[in-house]
Amino acid sequence: MCGIVGYVGPRQATPILVGGLRRLEYRGYDSAGLAVLDPTGHLEVSRSVGKLSALEQLLERQPLLGRVGIGHTRWATHGRPSEANAHPHRVGGVAVVHNGIIENYLDLKRRLQATGREFSSETDTEIVAHLVDEALNAGAPTLVEALRVALSQVVGAYALVVISERHPDEIVAAKNASPLVIGIGVGEMFLASDVPAMLEHTRDVIFLEEGEIAELRATGVKLSNLAGEPVTRASRRITWDAVQAEKNGYPHFMLKEIHEQPRAIADTLRGRLRLDTADAYLEGYEIDPRPLRRVVLVACGTSYHAGLVGKFMIESLARVPCEVDLASEFRYRDPVVGPNDLLIAISQSGETADTLAAVKEARARGGRVLAISNVVDSAIPRVSEGTVYTHAGPEIGVASTKCFTAQLAALALIAIHMGRRSGHLAAPEAAKLIAELAAIPTKMTTALTTLGDLADVAARYRDARDFLFLGRGTNFPIALEGALKLKEISYIHAEGYAAGEMKHGPIALVDDGVPVVVLAPRGPSYEKIISNLVQVRARNGRVIAVGTEGDQQLAEMAECVLFVPDVSPLLQPFMTVLPLQIMSYAIAVARGNDVDQPRNLAKSVTVE
Ligand code: M6R
Repeated sequence: MCGIVGYVGPRQATPILVGGLRRLEYRGYDSAGLAVLDPTGHLEVSRSVGKLSALEQLLERQPLLGRVGIGHTRWATHGRPSEANAHPHRVGGVAVVHNGIIENYLDLKRRLQATGREFSSETDTEIVAHLVDEALNAGAPTLVEALRVALSQVVGAYALVVISERHPDEIVAAKNASPLVIGIGVGEMFLASDVPAMLEHTRDVIFLEEGEIAELRATGVKLSNLAGEPVTRASRRITWDAVQAEKNGYPHFMLKEIHEQPRAIADTLRGRLRLDTADAYLEGYEIDPRPLRRVVLVACGTSYHAGLVGKFMIESLARVPCEVDLASEFRYRDPVVGPNDLLIAISQSGETADTLAAVKEARARGGRVLAISNVVDSAIPRVSEGTVYTHAGPEIGVASTKCFTAQLAALALIAIHMGRRSGHLAAPEAAKLIAELAAIPTKMTTALTTLGDLADVAARYRDARDFLFLGRGTNFPIALEGALKLKEISYIHAEGYAAGEMKHGPIALVDDGVPVVVLAPRGPSYEKIISNLVQVRARNGRVIAVGTEGDQQLAEMAECVLFVPDVSPLLQPFMTVLPLQIMSYAIAVARGNDVDQPRNLAKSVTVE
């Protein structure tokens, strides 16, 4: 989820590239860099760690002059944030910037090393710079041809942009799964991973599509596909302003992030699942569940709710006992942890103070620790033995959405990995689950389209005093998450409950002023949850049901029904959380609240 820019034309490239990167900083900001071809065709690269301002200071001291250049602001996926890992990556006279993940980078790296090539970073991107350089050395007649040779070896997601001393008047770029937009100026061309980067220069753009390659010169752009066949596409005129464009046209980051979930999950799963071996791989981290006494999942807030779903996944697939603990409780309760306990610390930011303290506590007692985090090289990964990174990209809305479902994807990977090694998950069942998991992003896209904006639901319930959320099994954590989401952005009091607990207390709250959200997708506890729904109705409760597409019986019993696609119970949280996120958002908007920065909250809680 990095930001990419490029410029070719008569003006100095550096200020245009830096201005573009400034507009893309929301996409990631752990390091940044530029590569510019100077007037003699000589390539110069400048990179620095931290926010863009650090690069700007460096460029003030050592200006880069030239009329062709590329730039990058990084959100690390492979390798910690450092100058060596910052883009552009340079090999010989070639410089490359990249957004995405090269899945087969280890195989390619080994092959390139065997030919005597040396690497100066831990990134997957540097491979591409080597491959393009290798192709040019082998006689590729044009830069675009060299890029095609490189791409024929690469598996993964990418927006790749390349410049070379041997072809100093052009930029070539390719897209597969990561976004890339070309801006058409008068006698100059722009390129970026998102429209805001170029809006101050042009509003005429071409969005590259999957498997397309662009050659940009000051005089124009030529599009082709991977096979070298020409592609033609008319440009589009952008009518949004820059701030709207940063949010991709969405009014709030939270809504944008809700809609980014299919992509976030696809990126988190990418390269880690294999159907041929029916297995999940954790980038070098191996968990042998056999000597494990138990797994303890620790986290706070939304990440804690992901942990509660993770317990179902790990216990059901690997049959290893799991506990889930709030990090703030775990750290102070003199926990029993030893070398046969695996602590899994879940944190979007990777720096939540309580979760970090829990990890340190577990390590001090000899426990093993695996982190799940969305921020590479953040504090929690740094003190853990290994990390499964979620590739959701920066989450800006304070209310966590895409990082939650990406955490579920990471937990599913861990559970399959452990299940295969514990001997409890046979290959055919694993293959079936892997196929179902791989289909989740598409089903989420369908669900998001079908659910729409839920503005009518919001109008109906926006003035409620309290809300109750009820769920069973894997949907009990989703009831908790639904209540948290609603509380934090709408400021309506809400509670999540295991539906079976309703008659032990919360049923006393039910009246026509308390909407009750009942999570009732088809599955093993369907009949039980329907009984709970009937009990609510019998007390004049207003039921908002979340159910499986086509369930007419449910539609008839509820005041309002929100349908999601059918998936197996272990994976239902990916679907059932979606209407709750959208409904909370819609209610908060209807109440006029600041959705992205709700009162009293902070995105990262680095204090107790
Ligand atoms: O960065 P973390 O995942 O460690 O953060 C944990 C919680 O602070 C976080 O999930 C919080 O509850 C969110 N605001 C929920 O939307």
